[in-house]
Amino acid sequence: MTNEIRPRKLVCLTGFMGSGKSTTARMLASQLGWLNTDLDLRITEATHLTIPEIFARMGEAEFRRVEHEQLARVVAETAVTQKPRIVSLGGGTIMQPQNLALLREAAAVLIWLHCPIEELLQRCAHIVDRPLFRDEASFRRLYQERLPTYELADYRVDSRSEPSRVIEQIVALGIFPGVTA
Ligand code: S3P
Repeated sequence: MTNEIRPRKLVCLTGFMGSGKSTTARMLASQLGWLNTDLDLRITEATHLTIPEIFARMGEAEFRRVEHEQLARVVAETAVTQKPRIVSLGGGTIMQPQNLALLREAAAVLIWLHCPIEELLQRCAHIVDRPLFRDEASFRRLYQERLPTYELADYRVDSRSEPSRVIEQIVALGIFPGVTA
């Protein structure tokens, strides 16, 4: 069976910090009756630490190790249960080539929630739980660095608008069997 005709069980949302991945994934999964997994939440549950605590105590490399481990578990769970699932990835998840490879191997659909940097800056300015939001200049730099990798996603939707509008765009992609916009 090819990927083209096999119904997709795993749909993952990627995009920069503040692009709305977690909220969109939760609402979309609820609308479709699919499972929802928030990868950052998996990481905090597995470590019993918040994301800033992981970065502060163990460093980014350890965070990335746990992130990969948890992603591999989510992929394996989906393969075993065959229950369809929407996953919100972290903003840096697909920057690790092994994570992208894992998702490709699992025939996951990757959707990039695209949002202009000015809007992301506004959304993230007052949020304190993002260790990689240090200052505006480094935030802008990281965004630029990551754009080419986000562009590898299968689909791109504009996430400037409210989550319900973002979901309409995702449904309109026609990737959910029997669900029309
Ligand atoms: C990160 C984004 C965060 C979280 C961690 C690292 C990143 O997730 O995984 O702080 O590298 O961009 P969100 O994109 O949900 O903020």
